[in-house]
Amino acid sequence: MSIISRKKVLLGISGGIAAYKTPLLVRALIKKGAEVKVVMTPSAIDFVTPLTLSTLSRNPVLSSFTEAGQDDHPEWNNHVDLALWADLMLIAPATSNTISAMVKASCNNLLLACYLSSKRPVFVAPAMDLDMYAHPANQSNLEQLKINGCYVFPAEEGFLASGLEGKGRMIEPEDMVLQLENILLSKAPLVNKKVLITAGPTYEPIDPVRFIGNHSSGKMGYALANHAASLGAQVVLVSGPTSLTIENSMINLIKVTSSKEMFEAVFAHYHQVDIAIASAAVADFKPAKVASQKIKKHDGAESIELIETQDILSEMGRTKKDQFLVGFALETENEEANALVKLKKKNADAIVLNSLNDKDAGFGGDKNKITFISKNNEKKTFELKPKTEVAADIFSEILSCI
Ligand code: CTP
Repeated sequence: MSIISRKKVLLGISGGIAAYKTPLLVRALIKKGAEVKVVMTPSAIDFVTPLTLSTLSRNPVLSSFTEAGQDDHPEWNNHVDLALWADLMLIAPATSNTISAMVKASCNNLLLACYLSSKRPVFVAPAMDLDMYAHPANQSNLEQLKINGCYVFPAEEGFLASGLEGKGRMIEPEDMVLQLENILLSKAPLVNKKVLITAGPTYEPIDPVRFIGNHSSGKMGYALANHAASLGAQVVLVSGPTSLTIENSMINLIKVTSSKEMFEAVFAHYHQVDIAIASAAVADFKPAKVASQKIKKHDGAESIELIETQDILSEMGRTKKDQFLVGFALETENEEANALVKLKKKNADAIVLNSLNDKDAGFGGDKNKITFISKNNEKKTFELKPKTEVAADIFSEILSCI
């Protein structure tokens, strides 16, 4: 399966003669399994028809901020939504005008508005005549795009539309897709790997309406799942009850409620994965008996007998084969020493220590402060930061261990 498969590609076409090759580019992306949407600058329409591109991409092609909707009322083509929809943006061909506007943050067409709103990787395939391509203004603009985080496919040598020969041709569509695959692969160290993550709280039923639970939001586990997917992994996310949603074709979200359901969902997948991370706040105790009817006040239930839940992480550690297993430890005293004891007792390969002693860190909030401890007792403490960034830190530590 190609790394492009199921990727959402926003193709921006600007108005140069190389635009006539973009139907082949759309077809090559679709053949690899990508989902493609096309935005064009108004002048690109002179070189290739939107009908051809919409037929090949199986999506409407957009070229202006508004278009006629029902009863001729104009409808807004939301560039922010389009930019957020895409996993990556590809601007091909990128003309001198478009490149210069991208550098200056001019925003006079839909393609540029999408580019400026995009937070995803942007790939640029310049195409122009040889002298224009060699001009210091264009070369410095291309350098600036690289500094701004774009990947620039160098133009190729060959026969140009002007009749001249030289460097300025847009890279051929098939080669562009191959290079795109190679670049994405080099940035995706977990491609072909499977990752299992537990997240959120568990609810242990007392009767049909009551439960024992905790305040875990699941944000850390969901951030880990998103990050694993961005590194190319196929992810199984087993989540207790949370208000979070996740939409990513690389993530198989399995929703559970109790620790027993979490245990079963985990062990349906654990033996097929390469990395497992237990970030869930699994309840430690559950009622010994679950009442089949709502317990009434006059029944006088002053106490509920509790028994221990099964420890999912310990069971993963006990039955571990080649998986790299990471646990979490939430501690309030003797933090590192306690975390290390947990790591050994549960036979994990590393443990992420969350401290509740830091204001703004941990349960519920958007930030976390962690120390990553490997089984060789190598420690790395990170500053308080958003959980999305903490997830990236955790994976960079895991990658340095495996
Ligand atoms: N864990 C688990 N199953 C349980 C309890 C905990 O998988 N029934 C996992 C958590 O997901 C976490 C790690 O074990 O990765 C440590 O959880 P924590 O609550 O900090 O530790 P406990 O073992 O429950 O010990 P204690 O509450 O006494 O600190």
